Formats: sequence, C-alpha cells, structure tokens
Amino acid sequence: MTRLEVINLSVEVDGKRILNNVNLTVESGEVVAIMGPNGSGKTTLFLTIAGHPRYNVVNGDIKLDGESILKLYPEERVQRGILLALQNPTPVPEVRLSTLITAMLNKKAGKRITDPPPPQVVAEMTKLTTELGLKPEHLSRGVHAGFSGGESKRAEMLQLLMYKPKVAMLDEPDSGLDVDGIAIIGRSIAKLAQEGTAILVTTHHAEILHYVKPTRVIVMAKGSVIHVGGEEVVKMIESMGYERFFKEVVKLNV
Ligand SMILES: Nc1ncnc2c1ncn2[C@@H]1O[C@H](COP(=O)(O)OP(=O)(O)O)[C@@H](O)[C@H]1O
Ligand SMILES: [Mg+2]
Repeated sequence: MTRLEVINLSVEVDGKRILNNVNLTVESGEVVAIMGPNGSGKTTLFLTIAGHPRYNVVNGDIKLDGESILKLYPEERVQRGILLALQNPTPVPEVRLSTLITAMLNKKAGKRITDPPPPQVVAEMTKLTTELGLKPEHLSRGVHAGFSGGESKRAEMLQLLMYKPKVAMLDEPDSGLDVDGIAIIGRSIAKLAQEGTAILVTTHHAEILHYVKPTRVIVMAKGSVIHVGGEEVVKMIESMGYERFFKEVVKLNV
C-alpha cells in the first residue's frame, strides 16, 4: 500500500509564488484527476513532487508512505517509485528508448546497466510497445527523437508500464491524441491503477475518463485547490467551461 500526501504545499519559482497551501492525497489503486485552467499550477505541482530544483518549497511537505521526500534529489524520488510522464517531453536523441527503460529498471533494482536488456525484459517491452500502438523500431530510436505528439505520449506510457511505479503522475496524457490513442492511454492508466499504482493525472477532457474512473477530481485555480468532487465535475467543466463553473458551482470569482 502506497500513500502520497501533499500537505499545505506552497511553492515559489524565481521568487514568485505559484502554489498556495495545496493539499491532496493519493493511495494505491486510486486515480485522482486534477483539472484547472492553463496556468493554474498543475504542472508546477507535478514538477515540485518530482523534485525539480527550480521549484522552491516555501511551506508544507510532501510525504511518501509517511516520510518526507522534500530533501531527496529527483533521481532518488524516481528510485523510491515516483515517476512523472511529462506534458511536453524533451527529446534525448543520444539515448535509445530501450536503453532508457533498461537503465530505469536497473536503477530501480539497484543493478548495473545491461544493454541490451535480458530477453524477458525485451519480450515484455516489445509486447507493450505493440499494444500501445508503437512499432518495435521506436525502441531503437532516440527517446522522443522525431516522435509525433501521440507517439511521445505512448512512449511515456511505455516507461510507466515497464517501471510499475508506486506513484505515477501523468501531465495531460491525452493532449494531442487521436480517439484510438485516448482509448489506449485511458486503458493503460486503468491497468496501472489495477496493478496498485497511485495515480495523479491532469486532463481537460472527459473522454479519457470513459476508460478510467477517477476516485476524486481536484480543481485548481491560481495555484490553489478550490474544489474537490467526483466524476461529475469533469462533465460540468467540459460543458460549462472553467469560468462559469467557478462562478456558478464553486461560487468563486477567480
Ligand atoms: N519556471 C517558471 N518560471 C516562471 N513562471 C513559471 C514557471 N513555471 C510555472 N510558472 C508560472 O506558474 C503558473 C502555473 O503554471 P503551470 O504550473 O505550468 O500551470 P498549468 O500546468 O496548470 O497550466 C503560470 O502562471 C506560469 O507562468
Ligand atoms: Mg501544465
């Protein structure tokens, strides 16, 4: 059983306050959806949990299974099982996708990097690659090098499915995907949750939630959590838009 807690978290970037007293909890098997207009702080929250050095925690704590992770380096957080699938992943053309995944798995197991990986790892990676709608040749290409937007999202998902993290954060995993892609990513998130991963996912769309039912939906505005509800929140926001949702449902002028 895993539990990630964000407690009264306030964060500054270059001296500018971005997050204010954010509280949230996610446990094994739960899918917590985070919504909020552009610039409301969703990516900042994820990068702070991942330990990005630019994001300065000025108040509060982040705990994994009751223990603060604030002093841990980003690599140590990954090793503890917290993984982030980026909204816009940076290409790393020098490193093959299969090499990156092997390195991640070795890091997790505390072993030396072996490349090519053992046959059973290759078999699982190849199977998942095909299931995700990628081609085996993507594995031998540089990470995100010349990948389309949709291919990048699938490659991020491949890393999560192979690593089987304790906590997975997915930042807009459905953006730029076609309908088939959304179904694949949605089902993959549901599979991760079933296998016991605690999931935080940002989205602007209800579509992905046809495949994965959120345990809770958290709505952010201007760096604060302003509403917590269920699946109905996603549908309301989709039909009303954020502005009307804030005024009429949250009774807040943001
Ligand atoms: N590195 C940064 N430097 C300056 N401002 C930043 C930085 N990262 C985020 N911000 C600001 O923080 C706010 C929240 O951004 P972000 O977390 O990306 O929002 P979201 O993911 O909800 O769209 C925005 O106003 C953004 O401009
Ligand atoms: Mg964002």
